[in-house]
Formats: sequence, C-alpha cells, structure tokens
Amino acid sequence: MAKKTEAGKNNSKPLVAVIMGSKSDWDTMRHADETLSDFGIEHECRVISAHRSPSLAAEFGSTAESRGLEVVIAAAGGAAHLAGVLAAHTTLPVLGVPMRSEALNGMDSLLATVQMPAGIPVATLAIGKPGAVNAGLFAVAILANTRPELRQKLHDFRAAQEKKIRETVL
Ligand code: RP5
Repeated sequence: MAKKTEAGKNNSKPLVAVIMGSKSDWDTMRHADETLSDFGIEHECRVISAHRSPSLAAEFGSTAESRGLEVVIAAAGGAAHLAGVLAAHTTLPVLGVPMRSEALNGMDSLLATVQMPAGIPVATLAIGKPGAVNAGLFAVAILANTRPELRQKLHDFRAAQEKKIRETVL
C-alpha cells in the first residue's frame, strides 16, 4: 500500500519501502508504517519472502534504487534472510527488523539478520515492536540528512518525548 504525504520533496513516489517476509509480520510492522505516516513520509508496505518468493525479492532489490526509493526496511522472522538478500541486490541503506518468533522468541531472527558478512551491510534494529518503530525513525533520520524540514520534525519529536517524561506524575 502507498501512503499519501506532504513531505519528501514533493515526491509522489515512495521514499521508503517497508518489506516483510509474511503477512503475519504486519501486526508488528504496522508500527513502522505508523511512524513513517506520522512524519509524513511517502512509503510503501509489501510482503516479499526471501525463501517463498526469491525471484520477487531479487527483482525488488535490484530495482529499488531506480524506482526512487532511498531506504529499505526489511522484517523477517526465524531464518530471517530477507534483509540480507535485499541488501545483496541494492546499495540503498537496508534496516533489518527481527520478528519475535514463536520457537526462539526472536533470537533466531536477530542473529540471522544481524550476522551479515563484511561487504553487504544490514543495520539491525531491536526485536519486534521497538525495532519496527525505530526502523521508521531511523529511515526518517536518513532522509533528514537532505531535508531540513524532516530534521526539524525529529527535533520536535524528541522534545515532545522528553516533555512527556518530565510531566509524568506517579
Ligand atoms: C518469515 O517466517 C516471516 O517473516 C515470518 O516472520 C515467519 C513466519 O511466516 P508465516 O509462516 O507466518 O507466513 O519468513
């Protein structure tokens, strides 16, 4: 699904792709989707499996840059090879989000995502929801390098976050 936004240099094309290995990952990855929407980032969310749809994964990775994408977020669980496979096909920054798996509670996903060989980087976030939220924020931070209005939004977000903590009464 493509999201309508006002940010992103008037670009109607998605700047960020949120890719997940299965529809079952959506309940976690909707938090990346919501974070990007909150910052007004044009993005797309898709299911692509490194194992079940390998040619689609290769096609997506190898055309991501020419489609105008600037960041790829890739989430998978278990033998979580999606982020690494996409990174093998693109030089765009790939942010990996390990899903909390049933069998090993996400440790399998974490290690499969983070332990990339030198030469093909994947920036790996935390397991589950915190990783999904932070992948969205990290994508915004990357885009903000060339978009001052996004940098300001990040400053405002941090200030609001701190204000909430300061005002917390127990
Ligand atoms: C991975 O296998 C997916 O990313 C998902 O986290 C996990 C389980 O997939 P389903 O069997 O629920 O489709 O590829």
